[in-house]
Amino acid sequence: MEVIRAKTAGFCFGVKRAVETVYEEVQKQGNIPIYTYGPIIHNDEVVKDLAAKGVRVIKDEAELETIKEGVVIIRSHGVSKRISDKIEEQGLIRVDATCPFVKKIHNIVEKESKAGKHIVIIGNDAHPEVEGIKGWSESEVTVIQSAEDAQDFSLEEEKEICIVSQTTFNYNKFKDLVEIIQKKRYYISVLNTICSATKERQTEARAIAEAADAMIVIGDKRSSNTQKLFEICRSACDNTYYIQTLDDLDMNQLRSVETVGITAGASTPNNIIEEVQNNVRINF
Ligand code: F3S
Repeated sequence: MEVIRAKTAGFCFGVKRAVETVYEEVQKQGNIPIYTYGPIIHNDEVVKDLAAKGVRVIKDEAELETIKEGVVIIRSHGVSKRISDKIEEQGLIRVDATCPFVKKIHNIVEKESKAGKHIVIIGNDAHPEVEGIKGWSESEVTVIQSAEDAQDFSLEEEKEICIVSQTTFNYNKFKDLVEIIQKKRYYISVLNTICSATKERQTEARAIAEAADAMIVIGDKRSSNTQKLFEICRSACDNTYYIQTLDDLDMNQLRSVETVGITAGASTPNNIIEEVQNNVRINF
């Protein structure tokens, strides 16, 4: 049996950097309490491993306000300026692991809003990354996710608009939504701030699934990028299995296949991918 593992499987650059930052802080800080603002990634295995090392998760701003000592690590999604400032105002040590691609959006939004522009974020309003981006604007912000949102968008005064995107938004959809807004004849500057990591992972997964007899997608059940990856693979290969760890994999399902593809979401650690890959190899 041939096993093809996607080169883009697992942590992207920003997630890898954030997770490594937490492990480094554990090594460095000795007895000082260490917190992450929200789970560092959507992966129970990693969060449990960190909890065993004493790292605690702060759920929200109200909980942050009760903490008086320690290190607070900001995850790759980033946070609003208010939360970022609050960490320091409370005398806590802030370690910022915001992905540099997200930080770039914060800087754009801060600068352009200061210049008086109305900020438009193309993205999902409920996502923590968008929540964070909104919180760097000094002027009004509109979040647009659908064609309807774009059609309904209107400003009373003749204001300049700056459009940015959530890093994981679909490029074609972004283009379509920008086109709708451009027809409204405001003065607009458009900054495509989509990160290519998600697109590359999806393109590679589709190509492997098309060539494989069976496809394994590894990732946490709550990880939306893993779910998307699973849908892409399943549409290209009927024999696609979504597993969280090796325990979920039924080897019998792979008995009669010749080529197995493996990919994994952005929150899946390398050791879990390797364990699955090695076991599939050993068993066949
Ligand atoms: Fe950063 Fe792109 Fe990953 S924005 S967190 S490298 S998906």
